Amino acid sequence: MKIILLGAPGSGKGTQAKLISENFNIPHISTGDIFRFNIIQKTTLGIQAEAFINKGELVPDSITVSMIKDRMNEEDCSNGFILDGFPRNISQAKSLNDILEEKGQRIDKVLFFDVPEYIIIERVVGRKVCKNCGAVFHSKFKPSKAYNKCDLCGGDLIQRKDDNEEIIKNRMEVYISSIQPLLDYYGNGGPLLVVNGYGDIKDIYRSVEKALIPI
Ligand code: AP5
Ligand code: MG
Repeated sequence: MKIILLGAPGSGKGTQAKLISENFNIPHISTGDIFRFNIIQKTTLGIQAEAFINKGELVPDSITVSMIKDRMNEEDCSNGFILDGFPRNISQAKSLNDILEEKGQRIDKVLFFDVPEYIIIERVVGRKVCKNCGAVFHSKFKPSKAYNKCDLCGGDLIQRKDDNEEIIKNRMEVYISSIQPLLDYYGNGGPLLVVNGYGDIKDIYRSVEKALIPI
């Protein structure tokens, strides 16, 4: 199954993608995670992307699209994938369509996580991520067992550089200015489904499963 997850910063795309990936056995492809990994490794891609990410702006489409094209050509994507954070605008959506058309493929489902804006700040500001493995926690909603240590690998938990109130405002502005055209692009009889993204993580996942496998 080929799935796109859409939603605001902090709407739970990464959290739900991880659960879908485990249960459907398809890879979770997060453009944000790939950029952050490259920033840590100090690769050319990381150096190109870092300034944009730290300001809460989009990395230019040319860089992002070629990165996602390479990733989608990897062997593990042959049975499907979950795209988290891509596409972010119509130009990226059209590029994705071209990439898939070349392979005779298409997107099966697009899930949009609908979360009220006032929830977002609390989720983003309280988020902690593992420096080693990238696992995501939250100081209040998903605390790690040991303070600031990752449950999975024991690595240190840190705050993302773009997870502060000033940058999140910019990320929200970028999101608000680009989401409606994407909803129009995938809606209107297309593969778009709206999922309530506010509530317990497990309850939301139940709605996700229902959306992916309709009875
Ligand atoms: P990216 O990493 O994609 O960030 P984002 O879209 O802003 O989304 P987040 O990762 O902040 O949130 P999420 O929806 O994954 O939420 P999560 O599950 O972690 O992108 C970062 C940057 O990279 C961009 O600003 C841009 O610069 C660049 N970039 C990325 N893609 C790009 C592209 N296509 N083109 C150009 N540039 C691009 O949850 C958030 C927190 O809430 C966590 O702590 C979690 O534990 C908690 N939580 C989750 N669900 C719940 C729940 N139901 N209840 C309570 N807490 C919850
Ligand atoms: Mg994420």
